[in-house]
Amino acid sequence: MIFELILTSNKNRLINKKNSALVKFFHEKELSKKFNLFLKQEKIELNQNQAANFFAKKEELLFAFTHKGSPDLLIVKKHKDENLTNDLLRNTLSAIIIRLKNESIQNLEIDIPPYSDFKELFSSETNYFESALEGIYLGNYDFEIYKTEKSKKQKLNVNIMSEGKTISSDQLLNCQNKMKAVSFARDLVNEPASTLTPQELARRVKLNLKHNSLRIKILNKKELQNRKMNAILAVGAASENDPLLIELHYKPSGKLKRKIALVGKGVTYDSGGLSIKPTSSMLEMKGDMAGAAAVIGTIAAAAALKLPIEIIGVIPAVENMISGKSYKPGDIVKTASGKSIEVKDTDAEGRIILADALEYACKQKPDEIIDFATLTGACVVALGETTAAMFTKNDKLAQALEDSSKSSFERIWRMPFYSDYKEQLKSDMADISNLGTRWGGSITAAIFLEHFVDKKIPYVHLDIAGPALKHKFTSYTEKYDTGFGVRLMIDYLSNLA
Ligand code: BES
Ligand code: ZN
Ligand code: ZN
Repeated sequence: MIFELILTSNKNRLINKKNSALVKFFHEKELSKKFNLFLKQEKIELNQNQAANFFAKKEELLFAFTHKGSPDLLIVKKHKDENLTNDLLRNTLSAIIIRLKNESIQNLEIDIPPYSDFKELFSSETNYFESALEGIYLGNYDFEIYKTEKSKKQKLNVNIMSEGKTISSDQLLNCQNKMKAVSFARDLVNEPASTLTPQELARRVKLNLKHNSLRIKILNKKELQNRKMNAILAVGAASENDPLLIELHYKPSGKLKRKIALVGKGVTYDSGGLSIKPTSSMLEMKGDMAGAAAVIGTIAAAAALKLPIEIIGVIPAVENMISGKSYKPGDIVKTASGKSIEVKDTDAEGRIILADALEYACKQKPDEIIDFATLTGACVVALGETTAAMFTKNDKLAQALEDSSKSSFERIWRMPFYSDYKEQLKSDMADISNLGTRWGGSITAAIFLEHFVDKKIPYVHLDIAGPALKHKFTSYTEKYDTGFGVRLMIDYLSNLA
């Protein structure tokens, strides 16, 4: 984290304290009408140059140290109708926190516009406030533990209000808990692969997810062998670090709404195996366990928020490496379900380990299964870096997840899930091949996974290869992998609760 944040929402504004900043939003069209009046009301004086800048500059986010009056620093966001989304507050506030790293501000007062200005973009006023709070926490994330020169963690008091209206302390606390889980998920994804091995992943889960209603089970290599989870074993065979399976079971007391299984791809490093990747593609493959991180973060947050839902997390954790023990193109792997896979490409390893994991999840008889996986580059080609692909045959689940996607601004897009694409996965020697043709690669990957899911259990596959990894579309995804999925799932689970 950049700052040690102390976040409040009360009527004692911070602008008269020393080293203070004030954030104010204006619609571009209203600036000329409202800006001078605002300066007068707040008794702020800018020097002429600065004042002119606010009108002339193209930049939407402007910083100016005041000439007279308090606060010391004035921050103005000029927003326009074009490109306006419900990410406005999240993205702007995150960008501001990141910028303040280089200033000596200790008190930040944030005036957000009234909800009524943006009503049609949000599901509720709470959802509107949440977007602002999330932006503060997302911007405050960093991953600098390996830098020798550490920036000192300064305290930053932040007070946020909307035209005198405050945010409830319940919402502040819940959001803080949720965002702590998002940061934990981000730490896991950003951690280099030589540190975050399957064992280290399991260790951190045990260390950080301590909760009365949470049981954690780690199946080691021997136990995977006993359970004939040969798919996980095959992909993990070349690595010095043994594969394992992490099972999380969150079961709070009281009447529970539903039992949900969450499955997450936990490839702690994907070199491609013998079907080796080029260096440039390998660079981001420490993040090939982002699906696992989404599941872990979701369960951590659900437990902290005491959501009345039973959740089973299933995480196959492996390194896809190269050695004399590597699994090989041409191999035939017998999965725990008994179904066999012909390995045509060792780089399509995610679907192989998920075959065993999905079967394991089905055995727990959940009401529904949702998996998260950085599964295919094809998905990123199709939808770009901001958006996950959703595959499901269940319209109700699709609708609920799409609603949560809108609320959380974690974008998902429902893809076609055509059963006849299965033709591409025919094998002459095994039940299914792990490689389709060049076309529709994220769809054939989804069809492959479905082959291992009990047809009676409603099922959703989310390919998060794009949005889980860092990208330049928003201030809070620019530098570090994103923790995609946790905010989406907490919105979804909260709506059930
Ligand atoms: N982990 C990759 C997919 C990926 C690519 C994730 C880019 C994040 C960013 C996956 O295991 C993989 O290598 N998939 C192959 C599948 C192909 C061999 C059928 C791919 O997408 O090229
Ligand atoms: Zn791969
Ligand atoms: Zn992979």
